[in-house]
Amino acid sequence: MAQFLTVCFLYVLTLLYVSSRSIHKSNSETPTFDEKNRDHWNLQAQWILRTKLASPLNTKVAKNVILFLGDGMSITTLAATRVYLGQKYGHLGEELKLSFEAFPYTGLAKTYCVDHNVADSACSGTAYLTGVKANSGTVGLSAAVKRGDCKGQRDGIHSVTGLMDWAQKAGKGTGFVTTTRVTHATPAASYAHSADRRWEADSDLPKKGLRCEDIATQLVKGQVGSKIDVILGGGRRNFFSKNQKDIEGYNGYRSDGVDLIREWKLKKEALGVSPKYVYHKAGLLSLDENHYNSVLGLFSPDHMPYHLEAGDDDPTLSEMTQKAIQILKKKKNGFFLFVEGGRIDTAHHETKTRKALDETAEFAKAVEAALRLVDLQETLVVVTSDHSHTMTYNGYSKRGTDILGLANKMNGSDNMPYTILSYANGPGYKPDDQHQKRHNLAFDNLSHINYTYPALVPIARETHGGEDVAVFARGPWAHLFTGNYEQNFLPHAIAYAACMGPGLTSCK
Ligand SMILES: *[C@@H]1O[C@H](CO)[C@@H](O)[C@H](O)[C@H]1NC(C)=O
Ligand SMILES: *[C@@H]1O[C@H](CO)[C@@H](O)[C@H](O)[C@H]1NC(C)=O
Ligand SMILES: *[C@@H]1O[C@H](CO)[C@@H](O)[C@H](O)[C@H]1NC(C)=O
Ligand SMILES: [Zn+2]
Repeated sequence: MAQFLTVCFLYVLTLLYVSSRSIHKSNSETPTFDEKNRDHWNLQAQWILRTKLASPLNTKVAKNVILFLGDGMSITTLAATRVYLGQKYGHLGEELKLSFEAFPYTGLAKTYCVDHNVADSACSGTAYLTGVKANSGTVGLSAAVKRGDCKGQRDGIHSVTGLMDWAQKAGKGTGFVTTTRVTHATPAASYAHSADRRWEADSDLPKKGLRCEDIATQLVKGQVGSKIDVILGGGRRNFFSKNQKDIEGYNGYRSDGVDLIREWKLKKEALGVSPKYVYHKAGLLSLDENHYNSVLGLFSPDHMPYHLEAGDDDPTLSEMTQKAIQILKKKKNGFFLFVEGGRIDTAHHETKTRKALDETAEFAKAVEAALRLVDLQETLVVVTSDHSHTMTYNGYSKRGTDILGLANKMNGSDNMPYTILSYANGPGYKPDDQHQKRHNLAFDNLSHINYTYPALVPIARETHGGEDVAVFARGPWAHLFTGNYEQNFLPHAIAYAACMGPGLTSCK
């Protein structure tokens, strides 16, 4: 390990040296002097080779597991975010790595659902959290249950549980962190069973017919939900009544009048743990992790705001991740933490690419923050995504061109410019005034944070994409994550590494 770290460190130093020289020696229009030198490429490739040769397989038990999920974080999104982040720090950009792109093992996961060729966050969450592929729109249920089938949900026989449950049964601490509502499809797949992802609060249930238990109730009272030690994210309104206002003056959304935040506290106290509810950044950061071992943080009535629009009261994904680890680290049998960067996806749906890349950059920072807090020899860290989006990265601009700008010195055959990043469909569709030609982008304001990047087909919400997503792994058994496999393989491999769950484990 020491050798591995040294090699990594030297490699980083070399790159920093090379890139600092590049910045001084060249303007950003042309490739750097050093990149024109064959030694630059040979030296760099040799470092990678040495690093790989010097790293033995880690077959220890994974005491801790952190699963990071960038919602809608396609491989194209990663490539574009490298440039976005690199350019922020004065580099050309393309040559940089996001924190997790330096992990030693990568794979590709196939994301389709049982009923649809392109996944939504619900069926996909069920796959990578429970190990079973499902129908789109459903969470924590096998594909025997169709979307909206309340009876199928109530029957119970089709319910599936996974990493959260297995970790709890193995005596580990458990938690999740998200920038969406804590009842949104992605986190919900870790603790709930719902025939419709939209049934987040009782008010979302169909007015007629069978009543099913809503997702917020399952988080507070469910078998798995009630045992989760750390819950941090948005979506406060789903936890209290329509007729009440919270401390920030926002109305609740529940019709049954139940105060789930109060019930969460009582339930935890009954279990003999000391719970703490927080609702803003200062409350989270000042929380003494030695005093509380269970924390519910609901920082926003709905999804948490985009990082580019966040206020002083909104904690960042990194801050939430760090606090969650500090609390869970006290568990003697280790922990399982699930961290979602949830707003990459919502930004893509709006074709607001600047926000999507910025959210991905924030996600990469959260991974980096986590790596600093754990023992990497006994912590398995897996970073992946649930599905792709339709964004493409178009050629052929000069190195270092603003990734959010127009392709430079290039026009279409209609002699009008095009953006480097654009979508196959979505709200960014721009008809020309005469409906004969393409809209001329030359006068659009691409610096605006809400600029909707161009789309070929008009659709109110851009769709997900169907190609594979990347999986990055480091730590115990990280080498299991190489290859190309179905997405539902992920929790099976994680459980093997961490010695939990009903399947094969590295301990038995
Ligand atoms: C591309 O199109 C823009 C706007 O239509 C025009 O001003 C510019 O000269 C064109 N550039 C090239 C390289 O053809
Ligand atoms: C473009 O948007 C940016 C950021 O919102 C703003 O500062 C700038 O004034 C806008 N430019 C034009 C020409 O409207
Ligand atoms: C961007 O859009 C959001 C709504 O999605 C709005 O709240 C915000 O004010 C807009 N920002 C700017 C700079 O126009
Ligand atoms: Zn989505």
